[in-house]
Amino acid sequence: MFANSRRIESTQSSPHPRLNEIVRKHLTEPYRRRPSAAGRAAVAAVADRLALAPFILDAGCGTGASTVALAHAFPGRWVLGVDKSAVRLATGLRLIDGSAAPANALLLHCELVDFWQLAAAAGLRCERQFLLYPNPWPKPEYLKRRWHAHPVLPALLAVGGSIELRTNWQVYAEEFAEGLRLSGVVACVQRMEAENPLTPFERKYAASGHALWRVEAPLSNAR
Ligand SMILES: C[S@@+](CC[C@H](N)C(=O)[O-])C[C@H]1O[C@@H](n2cnc3c(N)ncnc32)[C@H](O)[C@@H]1O
Repeated sequence: MFANSRRIESTQSSPHPRLNEIVRKHLTEPYRRRPSAAGRAAVAAVADRLALAPFILDAGCGTGASTVALAHAFPGRWVLGVDKSAVRLATGLRLIDGSAAPANALLLHCELVDFWQLAAAAGLRCERQFLLYPNPWPKPEYLKRRWHAHPVLPALLAVGGSIELRTNWQVYAEEFAEGLRLSGVVACVQRMEAENPLTPFERKYAASGHALWRVEAPLSNAR
């Protein structure tokens, strides 16, 4: 079961033809969505700690295994894992409550759209953002659900830092990099090896023989 993840199937084999138009629209038109009350409460619970210094964001952290690993790697920073799945986070919280968990790891049950909107509005700033294996939404009609074509993109960029995305779908990596370039950010796409998998999904995809892709970029020039 473990090493037999299905490859992503899509009628798209290259970046979506409407990517440019949609990203430019998001960059120029304000996003008027109001964050939810639950999102406000969740962000308020951690905002004081995150305001102390730029923090590390593990966006869509799942069980938080990568949040714990990143907290070990960046001992001088708060490392915040955010996910909307209470079930996955419950696994992570058991890990965090364990004696070996670093004290700088935080897990937050929150919709990422709320998180980025509220963090940007509050002036919170990241040192690094990790988007590790986001849901690919491979049907072309779901383009706007992919983070680079989502109206929350300007808020994600405003939170800043450097960004690292990993995915097992090359089209997602290429589109994400192109979305960043359209935002004024130099981004590179690389094929990567997962000798020491950082996340459960990375481990599963690597064991299933999938090609893995990484996009890295500093967000300092984003407009
Ligand atoms: C494919 S899993 C990857 C989990 C983890 N990063 C890993 O690599 O093992 C995608 C994760 O993103 C979370 N997610 C997707 N959309 C989200 C959103 N809008 N807000 C918060 N979490 C979201 C899902 O709940 C899920 O845990």
